[in-house]
Amino acid sequence: MGKKEANDDVYKILSESGYSNKAIEYFQAKENMGVIDNADQVTDLVGPCGDTMKISFNTDGDTINDAKIQVLGCPGAVASGCAVINLTKGKTLDEAAKIDLDVLYKEVEKLPDKKIHCARLAIKTLQKALKEYEEKSPGKATGESAGRKL
Ligand code: FES
Repeated sequence: MGKKEANDDVYKILSESGYSNKAIEYFQAKENMGVIDNADQVTDLVGPCGDTMKISFNTDGDTINDAKIQVLGCPGAVASGCAVINLTKGKTLDEAAKIDLDVLYKEVEKLPDKKIHCARLAIKTLQKALKEYEEKSPGKATGESAGRKL
């Protein structure tokens, strides 16, 4: 079976399980995956299901100019993680702090109901990374993003 046929098969299975076309595209493209060498911040988080995400990013002080994600998890986790990174790149730290489950859901359009915790894991990993970065770079934290809840 060629790569295209294999991709078409995966597409069909995910589509029938309740993934939107956009979420499947994120899953299949797997953009921004990996870990940045010498990143300003590297943070990982294990979800309740045991799956793990690791987010790394670099900033120019205020703007996240590069970010990557590593995912050991299901298609919902990969799609959510890649979408979160796409939403995060080029944002200021404060703007990134506002990326929540609603924003992510608008981006991926639809995941199967039982995959919502995968999207939540992507958001929690991002917010944990931002918080850890602020804690070690106190001058970078602003009133608005400091002290927000996960
Ligand atoms: Fe664990 Fe999706 S099943 S993140």
